[in-house]
Amino acid sequence: MEAYLEEMREAQRARGPATVLAISTANPSNFIYQSDFTDYYFRVTNSNHLPHLKAKLNRICEKSMIRKRHMFLTEEMLKENPKMSTYAEPSLNARHDMLIEEVPKLGEKAASKAIKEWGRPKSDITHLIFCSISGVDAPGADYKLVNLLGLNPSVKRFMLYQQGCYAGGTVLRLAKDLAENNASARVLVVCSEMTVVSFRGPCETQLDNMVGQALFADGASAAIVGASPLLVERSLFHVVSAKQTILPNSEGAITGHLREEGLTFTLKGNVPQIVSDNIEKSLEETFNPIGINDWNSIFWVTHPGGPAILNQIETTLGLEKEKLRASKHVLSEYGNMSSACVLFVLDEMRKRSVEEGKATTGEGFTWGVLYGFGPGMTMETVLLHSVPI
Ligand code: CAA
Repeated sequence: MEAYLEEMREAQRARGPATVLAISTANPSNFIYQSDFTDYYFRVTNSNHLPHLKAKLNRICEKSMIRKRHMFLTEEMLKENPKMSTYAEPSLNARHDMLIEEVPKLGEKAASKAIKEWGRPKSDITHLIFCSISGVDAPGADYKLVNLLGLNPSVKRFMLYQQGCYAGGTVLRLAKDLAENNASARVLVVCSEMTVVSFRGPCETQLDNMVGQALFADGASAAIVGASPLLVERSLFHVVSAKQTILPNSEGAITGHLREEGLTFTLKGNVPQIVSDNIEKSLEETFNPIGINDWNSIFWVTHPGGPAILNQIETTLGLEKEKLRASKHVLSEYGNMSSACVLFVLDEMRKRSVEEGKATTGEGFTWGVLYGFGPGMTMETVLLHSVPI
């Protein structure tokens, strides 16, 4: 009996490490240049009588490293839903009506491109992980995506709502476990994030709200993860190990609360410090077993939470300027799209590596790390291995 159980267990498991087989991204077509955002924001929120806050937002935008951001919400939509432009009027129903429709649709845009790159029929997708901070509903965005894409109704679904920016790492960690523990599994991972849930006017006493308004943006990313690729499939990165931890003394530094007025958040000023205080320990735990202690000898995929976070990681670890290039590019061209960001960064990295004739998908390096961080504060650390180009 024992031997039979062991045989069954072995037969159910995959051989080889989880591998990213496709990556894709999508954004709403509507976008705004960061240099125009302060005027736009104070106009649509009827807040031009608060010039000191306007000047502050302008300073934040100038320092944000962002060139443009995509947002589904337009000025016309905000005019039709004026409560969404105040700081705290009840507006959750209007926000939800949009999110329940649009979060799965944006996810579908990214997922269909990933399936195309993957090159196999969508009926071969066995598992779906859908992640979004917003649009809580039942059946959820995962169910809607199955219908939008025309996936097999028996695809095994996991819906992650209300996670936040660390969850780009969470979905890869979960996908790795599914791919390695289920022979022939092909896991479609989708992160779809929209600021419809958190857009609001300024408030004299909640200045971190303006930091979020200056940084957050809409975007979706998708990946397909599986082990033991078939001939028709192409490996992009191996997912070697993944872990999650709660950072010490960080309680309350990043929080999000779903209220009648939509999602409100706290972003304490010490967030960049908390990340940089903890990153070296995490790197040592991850890379000591493989004998790496030079953080410039690996490739970097960091959630671009804000420029201060990227700058502080660079300074603390003595990273060369180009190490966080892919994260800075995503921050500049798309802003902080919460959980969707790290797959944008991974996509940018593997494409740039090809364009620049690098030897591997990880800018010529073999080993790399992916970081997500967000509410908790929670940190996700994913050890990646690139493949030769
Ligand atoms: N709350 C309130 N005000 C803040 C603030 C905060 N957390 N951080 C900065 N500011 C204010 C400063 O007080 C300053 O105000 P004044 O101009 O009136 O003095 C203004 O912003 C500009 O700050 P600095 O001059 O110090 O400029 P900077 O180089 O630090 O750039 C910044 C400003 C772009 C906001 C930068 O501080 C930054 O990147 N901060 C990190 C943002 C952050 O926490 N990102 C994480 C987002 S959460 C996430 O990604 C995960 C999730 O789950 C949602």
